[in-house]
Amino acid sequence: MSASYELHGPVAVITLNNPPVNGLGHASRLAVAEGLERAQADANVKAIVITGAGKAFSGGADIKEFGTPKALAEPNLLSLIRLVELCSKPVVAAVHSVCMGGGLELSLGCHYRVAAPGANVALPEVKIGLLPGAGGTQRLPRVLGVETALNMIVSGDPVKSEVLASLPGQKLFDKLITDGDLLQGAITFATEIADKRPLPLVRDMKVTHPNADGYFQFARNTVGAMAKNFPAPLKCVDAVEAAVKKKFDDGMTYEREQFVALMMTPECKALRHAFFAERAASKIADVPEDTPLREIKKVAIIGAGTMGGGIAMNFLSTGTPVTLLEMKPEALERGVATIRKNYEAQVKKGKLKPEKYEATIALLSTTLSYDAIGDADLVIEAVFEDMEVKKAVFQQLDKVMKPGAILATNTSTLDVNQIAAFTQRPQDVIGTHFFSPANVMKLLEVVRGEKTAKDVLATVMAVGKKIKKTCVVSGVCDGFIGNRMIEQYSRQAGFLLEEGCTPAQVDKAVEKFGFAMGPFRMGDLAGNDVGWYIRKRRYVEKPDLRYSKTADLLCEMGRFGQKTGAGWYDYKEGKRDAIPSPVVEKMIADHRQAMGITPRQISDDEIVHRLVFALVNEAARLLEEGIAQRASDVDMVYLTGYGFPLHRGGPMCYADTYGLYNVAQAMKRFAQNPNDDAAFWQPAPLLAKLVEEGKSFN
Ligand code: NAI
Repeated sequence: MSASYELHGPVAVITLNNPPVNGLGHASRLAVAEGLERAQADANVKAIVITGAGKAFSGGADIKEFGTPKALAEPNLLSLIRLVELCSKPVVAAVHSVCMGGGLELSLGCHYRVAAPGANVALPEVKIGLLPGAGGTQRLPRVLGVETALNMIVSGDPVKSEVLASLPGQKLFDKLITDGDLLQGAITFATEIADKRPLPLVRDMKVTHPNADGYFQFARNTVGAMAKNFPAPLKCVDAVEAAVKKKFDDGMTYEREQFVALMMTPECKALRHAFFAERAASKIADVPEDTPLREIKKVAIIGAGTMGGGIAMNFLSTGTPVTLLEMKPEALERGVATIRKNYEAQVKKGKLKPEKYEATIALLSTTLSYDAIGDADLVIEAVFEDMEVKKAVFQQLDKVMKPGAILATNTSTLDVNQIAAFTQRPQDVIGTHFFSPANVMKLLEVVRGEKTAKDVLATVMAVGKKIKKTCVVSGVCDGFIGNRMIEQYSRQAGFLLEEGCTPAQVDKAVEKFGFAMGPFRMGDLAGNDVGWYIRKRRYVEKPDLRYSKTADLLCEMGRFGQKTGAGWYDYKEGKRDAIPSPVVEKMIADHRQAMGITPRQISDDEIVHRLVFALVNEAARLLEEGIAQRASDVDMVYLTGYGFPLHRGGPMCYADTYGLYNVAQAMKRFAQNPNDDAAFWQPAPLLAKLVEEGKSFN
């Protein structure tokens, strides 16, 4: 049932019923239209209430129908809103819980709106690269004033119903029903206004601004500076300006045209891709969604270093008690001091209330003894990256943890299956690969071992969601999804230096493409010694694999990055500004000469595509090997963990948009570069197959 119809005396109540958030799918729209018709035909009905069952009034468009013909099938949302407006009997929207996008637009077509406090009211279309397309940009300014409406439309962020209802002069809500049942309140309200005529319509309301030109110019400057790379926010400003300057119907036409135009932009495509990719990532092919979860009420963390402290904060901040275990009291003190310092910084910035800070920190306990953590439901190990140390820790955990506890490792390079084999319960062992700083970064790679039980996997995915991470499942391999790909990207970055680029040239090209940071600035931030350590291992494991030696030479000079005051760039004391270094440039030039390479000019386009397609080709291998479940998971890893530009949708989405045939052609060209590595550009079989079949990754 997508909407129900009931009579409450002289009031007909149409209740949207399309879980989880009463999306306005075709069946729901049809059911509302039928309800309106039925109510109008019934002489006993004097007024109509539209509301939503369960957890929402309406969350807007039904995402299941996105991009399908059903989304536009009549009555489409615009037609439905028109039907509401033309209804001869008053229609009252009874808003609660969630009133977003098309849901809010539908309510704005109603003659009256009543609301329960606590409802999240928003027009979030901008977050997927669009503007509200069913009159939101024209009607919301009429009821909330230009400035409040524009802020909501440009940010897409929700505002609570009681906040909106308290704004002076607002006409969004006719009544806030603070006591008793919302539906009962709405029915009473509808009965009271049933005979009032003419019926008020938002489209007939006036919308003005005392200094419209000045205000919209100011809005454009502000929004333009913030919305770099995304066209939608500025279009929102244009559409709201149209609400002020054009007649209502002309404003609607303008809004529609802009909506359709935005829909076609690559930025909108990328944002929609990311939106669906995030949802897809939580699904695991062979783990049913209704898999019973293990209860996680208490967490223990082994190691209070860089990662352990950050991981602990995720749990503390979401209300789960944490016990931190260390080897020495000094290490515990240091770890706890860092956690406190991070929270105190949030308090100083006004992001955390002092009483909340106290309550949060009260959830933290510390210990030097394994006896104190045996009853934890989940234990996450974040000790030194050394198999012998991990072995000792997991053998100890196996002894003390209660049956059914989940044993997780935060290792970034070691074999999770081997770690699981140190215990008698490999089914309970899993990898949780957090990214640094773990309290900030969104990405969590959930590493599924050969023997990891399905309910352990499902539980960790749910826990990850609870601590507000984007969880992506990875199989076991060296580097998992993200770091295995980044190694190929770094190798290419090294080759680019050998062939003629400077670190600054590479970084600039990559940052112009939209990455938060180029590879060399990134190396200086993360520490160049990390990669050095990995390469040293590779030289033994895979002696034939080619790496540029420039990064090793840099490390041999002690230039590990910001932490040593010098890396690929120079740094002034206490500052983070990267200053091109003549010493490094000479080192690169000398190395080039020693290798007999004549430098050449390399275009920004070549730089970017060599780096991005290095990622794509490795990802194709990860897909083939089943390490990554789907191409969109790879995109989520790169969008949330590696600063890949959101407006490009992730490396796989970018490759699809660029065209896989064109990707393969570019790789062929790179393979012919005199000093590049031809073997490197051998297309992964999956990529070659997709090109042959004319298909794409996503
Ligand atoms: P860290 O060196 O900052 O902290 C390790 C902590 O573990 C130290 O405080 C140490 O005293 C403690 N420790 C060592 N052995 C112990 C034992 N047997 N029992 C109890 N405590 C012990 O290291 P970090 O950076 O926090 O790394 C921890 C783990 O996280 C490693 O496996 C690392 O590969 C992984 N990782 C690190 C990332 C990073 O960016 N630092 C990112 C993702 C994963």
